[in-house]
Amino acid sequence: KEKGLSSCTQRVQEAQRIAVLTGAGISTESGIPDFRSPSGLWRNPEVQAAITRDTFFIRPQHFYRYFKELFLEWREVSPNTGHLALSKLEQMGKVVGIATQNIDGLHQSAGSSQVIELHGHLRTATCPKCKAKESMETVKALLKRSELPKCSCGTILKPDVVLFGDPLDMDDWKAAQAWMMKADVVLCVGTSLTVTPANSLILRRRSDSTLIIINKEPTMYDHLADFIFHGMAGTLLPKLIG
Ligand code: NAD
Ligand code: APR
Repeated sequence: KEKGLSSCTQRVQEAQRIAVLTGAGISTESGIPDFRSPSGLWRNPEVQAAITRDTFFIRPQHFYRYFKELFLEWREVSPNTGHLALSKLEQMGKVVGIATQNIDGLHQSAGSSQVIELHGHLRTATCPKCKAKESMETVKALLKRSELPKCSCGTILKPDVVLFGDPLDMDDWKAAQAWMMKADVVLCVGTSLTVTPANSLILRRRSDSTLIIINKEPTMYDHLADFIFHGMAGTLLPKLIG
């Protein structure tokens, strides 16, 4: 399946409507660990077990201890050449949208405007009871004082991140599928494609579309790709996009 970068670059040049699916792998070069690489966040199963919907509701202290350590102490992170290449592709009028599994907001920081955050984001937290929203800055400040962040109604606030066991936002899910069905090229970057339902998005593409996968390691769907590159997104995307 390994085809030359030049013929793939040619395909991207001709493309009119590129739908992109990204995962944690596009952000590792910005210093954010991914999940399933040897250095990934889930190398310790106790950590993954802590960041789940059940743990949030049953053991909120335990949840927030890990959530804070994993996601609220990132030092200033900035987009890398991979994010910037995708933003340039949008400026060239070729991108239908980016469906990302990441919560780091780096696609938006890189200038991409059509972004769906399938697994939520780190900007706000919501009260499960009265649905009131609070900024994550406030949540961080409360956690620093080792207090559980509570809504004015007394209920513990939940970060607006899709945790294992959470459903995805249905409007976002439908919009991401529509992007895939409109695309003439589907570009999949930095995801092991192991998490449902995000990974099934690439099965919704048109039969006459081209599937390009860029990932450091082999993925579950490599056999479906028209072009497959096992390498660094930060190096390959700028080459592909020119
Ligand atoms: P997780 O491993 O618990 O799984 C969350 C995902 O699993 C959700 O999308 C959910 O739809 C899916 N899921 C739900 N039920 C499932 C099932 N039965 N089988 C398989 N998948 C199922 O993820 P997490 O613990 O919530 O991780 C926390 C958040 O941290 C994630 O949303 C992730 O995107 C984020 N994160 C982002 C970055 C980054 O932004 N670069 C890096 C690390 C972590
Ligand atoms: N360039 C290209 N690929 C990379 C890079 C890089 N610089 N760094 C890592 N990768 C690859 C890894 O080899 C790995 O296969 O990116 C992939 C990241 O896969 P995961 O760690 O499984 O992350 P992701 O696919 O985003 O996980 C999906 O699982 O835990 C949940 O909700 C969480 O959103 C996350 C979802």
